[in-house]
Amino acid sequence: MVIYFTGTGNSRYCAKELAELLEDECTDSFGYIRSESAGMFSSERPWVFVCPTYAWQIPKVFADFIRRSRFDGNHDAYFVMTCGGEIGNAHPSNLALCSEKSFRCRGTIPVVMPENYIAMFSAPDHSEALRIISAAQPQIRQAAEFVASGQDFPVQRTGALDKLKSGPINALFLRFNNRTKPFSVSDACTSCGKCERVCPVHCIDMRDGRPEWSGKCTQCMACICGCPVSAIEYGRASRGKPRYQCPEYESR
Ligand SMILES: Cc1cc2nc3c(=O)[nH]c(=O)nc-3n(C[C@H](O)[C@H](O)[C@H](O)COP(=O)(O)O)c2cc1C
Repeated sequence: MVIYFTGTGNSRYCAKELAELLEDECTDSFGYIRSESAGMFSSERPWVFVCPTYAWQIPKVFADFIRRSRFDGNHDAYFVMTCGGEIGNAHPSNLALCSEKSFRCRGTIPVVMPENYIAMFSAPDHSEALRIISAAQPQIRQAAEFVASGQDFPVQRTGALDKLKSGPINALFLRFNNRTKPFSVSDACTSCGKCERVCPVHCIDMRDGRPEWSGKCTQCMACICGCPVSAIEYGRASRGKPRYQCPEYESR
């Protein structure tokens, strides 16, 4: 079974493609993460977890969802991490998670997709995004072939810098990059409430027809990139930047 988490659709796109190639089911973790509930899953096929890369690790909300959920049947787990560039040394944490869950870890593989972290970097424009997604097809097909043939994903080469990124830098990211204060909304807001609905961690409440942010943000970019009128900003960092949603992603 393919189980995914997504903020802006890249991982959903990869998960759907993988599920189609593997002729397997595809499940969204969104509802479980939003309600902080445990999933109860059963499958005789390997578990394929698909998610974005956040600071060179799988998102903490997705790891926590896997941790508290129950997975009956098959014991093999594969991790497919979509990323804007690279996943650093993410694998050892996935291996440790597998050992907590009594999974046999079959590896971690990156799939390079368009960058979506507009609170820090820039997302590609539409045509560049389509080019990147098309270039990702062989990576997705290759991942499916490994799973279908029961092989481990190939071991990724990592160095000291990768360890630094997935270790101390990831720890700093988790500690400091969860603030909701920089979010603001302009008068272009139409009060549609989509931002509130797409937030996986319930950080947004509509008050008098306007979104208000509170709590700990997971930085998934779903609200800011999903706003139909681009009314949301993250401080100055997001100003003038294209909003990114995977072109194949239908809005929730
Ligand atoms: C908070 C945050 C952190 C990110 N960190 C990384 C990273 O460490 N390495 C990387 O290559 N891409 C990074 N990205 C880019 C995303 O992993 C990438 O665009 C991903 O495909 C988005 O998936 P989604 O559309 O399913 O949410 C980051 C994005 C966000 C929002």
